[in-house]
Amino acid sequence: MSAHPHIAVVPGDGIGVDVTAEALKALGAASDLSGRALTFETFPWGADHYLRTGITVPADGYRSLAEHDAVLVGAFGDPRVPDSRHARDILLGARVALDLYVNHRPVRLLDERLCPLKNRSVEDVDFVVFRENTEGLYAGVGGRFKAGSDDEVAIQEEINTYKGVHRIIRHAFEHAVSVGLTKVCMADKSNAMAEGHALWQRVFREVASEYPAVKARHLYIDALALLLVQDPSAFEIIVTNNLFGDIITDLGAALQGGLGVAASGNLHPGRTSMFEPVHGSAPPLAGKNVANPVGAILSAAMMLSYLGRPEEAAVIEKAVRQAVVERHGTKDIGGVLGTRETGDYIAAVIRKT
Ligand code: NAD
Ligand code: IPM
Ligand code: MN
Repeated sequence: MSAHPHIAVVPGDGIGVDVTAEALKALGAASDLSGRALTFETFPWGADHYLRTGITVPADGYRSLAEHDAVLVGAFGDPRVPDSRHARDILLGARVALDLYVNHRPVRLLDERLCPLKNRSVEDVDFVVFRENTEGLYAGVGGRFKAGSDDEVAIQEEINTYKGVHRIIRHAFEHAVSVGLTKVCMADKSNAMAEGHALWQRVFREVASEYPAVKARHLYIDALALLLVQDPSAFEIIVTNNLFGDIITDLGAALQGGLGVAASGNLHPGRTSMFEPVHGSAPPLAGKNVANPVGAILSAAMMLSYLGRPEEAAVIEKAVRQAVVERHGTKDIGGVLGTRETGDYIAAVIRKT
C-alpha cells in the first residue's frame, strides 16, 4: 500500500455528513500521533448534488474513486429523493464498479451494558459477517410491466454466479485461517429457493472440504436470525448473500448496541476499497449534533488497518472502547455528549496515547 495514502471522502446525506466529520478527526489524530500522512479529497455526491445538477455520479466518478487508495463514505438517503436513486448509484454502484465483493461487517460488543440480551458478556458477542456485495437480489435485474395499472407485474431476479458465491465463501474460510478462528456458518434459504441457493450449498461443501481444520456449519437464514438472538456466542464467522447479509447485520448491530456503533468495509482485497458505517442517513437526526459517530470512526479504523496501518487502527479502536465504557458518548449509548463532543473526546484520547 502507498506510503502516503489518498482517501476519497463522500460524506453523503443527513447524519452521514455529521459522522464523517468525526471520523476525519479521529484519522487526523491517529495520523498526527504516528507522523504518517493521509490526504483527503472530498466528493460532494449526495441528494443535494443530485437535486441541483441531476447527476448522481459523474461520468468518470467511479474511476476517480478507484484512483484513490481507499474511499470513506458517510450515508445516503433523503426524503426528497423517495426512490433513493442517488443512493443506489453512488453506494451500490461503487460496490459493483469497484468490484467490492466482500462486505466485511464485524459485530463486537464493546460494553456489556449495551447488549439488549440478558447476561451477555463482551466475549459472547464477537463475530464477523461476510456479506456478498455485488450480486444476489441487488443485481438490479428485472423490470416492471404495465406499471401503475392493476395488472402491474414487478420482477426482481436474484443473480447467483459460481464466481460470486465462490469468492465470498473462499474469503470467509481464508479469513478464519488468517485470524485463527475455527467456525464458519453459511446461511441461505435453499429449502425454498432451490435453484439459486443450491449453488451456495454446492460451493460451500466444495470450499469447506479444503479447510478440514475449520468447522463448517449451514443454517437457513431464518434459523440464523433466531440463534443469533438466543446464543450469539455460537458464532465466529457468518457468510451469506447480499440481502440476507444486509438484514442480519442490522440484527448484529442491535446486539452490539445499535446502528450507531456498527462499522463496515466493502472490500476487494488488494484493490481500492470503501469503508462506511452500517447505518443510514437518519434524516430526523441530521445536523442536530446527536448522531453517534462511533460506527463511522470504527469504519475509519478498519480503513487504516486495510491500508497496512494496524497500529493506528488499534489506537483508534482502544480510544473508542474507552469512550464507550466511560459513557463519553451520545444518547443512544447512554451518554450525554453530542456528535462533535464525542468525536473530540475520542480524538483527544488518541492524541494522549
Ligand atoms: P437509518 O440507519 O438511517 O436509521 C435507523 C434507526 O437507527 C433510526 O432510529 C435512527 O435514528 C437510528 N440511527 C441510525 N444511525 C444512528 C446513529 N449514528 N446514531 C444514533 N442513531 C442512529 O435507517 P432508515 O431510517 O431505515 O433509513 C434512513 C435513510 O437512510 C433511507 O433513505 C435509507 O435508504 C438510507 N440508508 C442508507 C444506508 C447507507 O447509506 N449505507 C444504510 C441504511 C439506510
Ligand atoms: C447498507 C444499506 C444499503 C444496502 C442501502 C442503503 C441500499 O442498507 O449498506 O446496509 O442495502 O446495502
Ligand atoms: Mn443495511
